[in-house]
Amino acid sequence: MNVLAINSSHRKEGCTKRALDIFLEGIGEAEIVRIDLIDLDIAYCRGCMFCRQSQGSCIQKDDMQMLVDAYIAANIIVLGAPVYYNSVTSVLKTVIDRSIALHYSEKIKMKNPKTKKMAVLAPGAGQYNNQYRSFSDVLEFYVQDLNAEMTSFVQMPKLGLRLDADIEPYRKDILIAAKRCLR
Ligand SMILES: Cc1cc2nc3c(=O)[nH]c(=O)nc-3n(C[C@H](O)[C@H](O)[C@H](O)COP(=O)(O)O)c2cc1C
Repeated sequence: MNVLAINSSHRKEGCTKRALDIFLEGIGEAEIVRIDLIDLDIAYCRGCMFCRQSQGSCIQKDDMQMLVDAYIAANIIVLGAPVYYNSVTSVLKTVIDRSIALHYSEKIKMKNPKTKKMAVLAPGAGQYNNQYRSFSDVLEFYVQDLNAEMTSFVQMPKLGLRLDADIEPYRKDILIAAKRCLR
């Protein structure tokens, strides 16, 4: 069992990291790769559509290739994704835009006929109407291009802004998400 745990917070030691820790606890014994997107060198999509002509290769050579290889190797992907301005963080949006190359690539689809499970853990400071609406629309599209099945979307509102905010009220939901990925 290969698990890829991605932290898309711009703070490496915040609520998102701790939510991922709980999820991995729930997974138990596995090969785990953890990636902090903020540490990667991933350039903006140039919109050149080279990936369309070349059936999925990107003209830019940077850490995106390593991330794609990690997706391909994973059976379970857990994405820690805090809400920023009702959407995903800018580092994650950059990765998502670059994932257009996956849209034109048969590589992921051929190797993995929808066998990947994906859980999203989504901390947010506030709690208000439609807090996760745009966020989930963006992710839905992205998950399609990863050819994964989103088995859980754990919304974690009302955490406030502190690095050490208490995420324990969400422990049970996060562990359920881990168990669902193991089914
Ligand atoms: C630039 C920025 C924008 C944010 N926008 C929102 C928002 O729209 N809605 C919300 O509920 N929380 C928002 N937050 C709060 C974060 O989602 C929250 O603090 C989260 O716990 C951060 O995760 P972390 O501790 O892993 O960094 C924002 C935080 C930042 C830094």
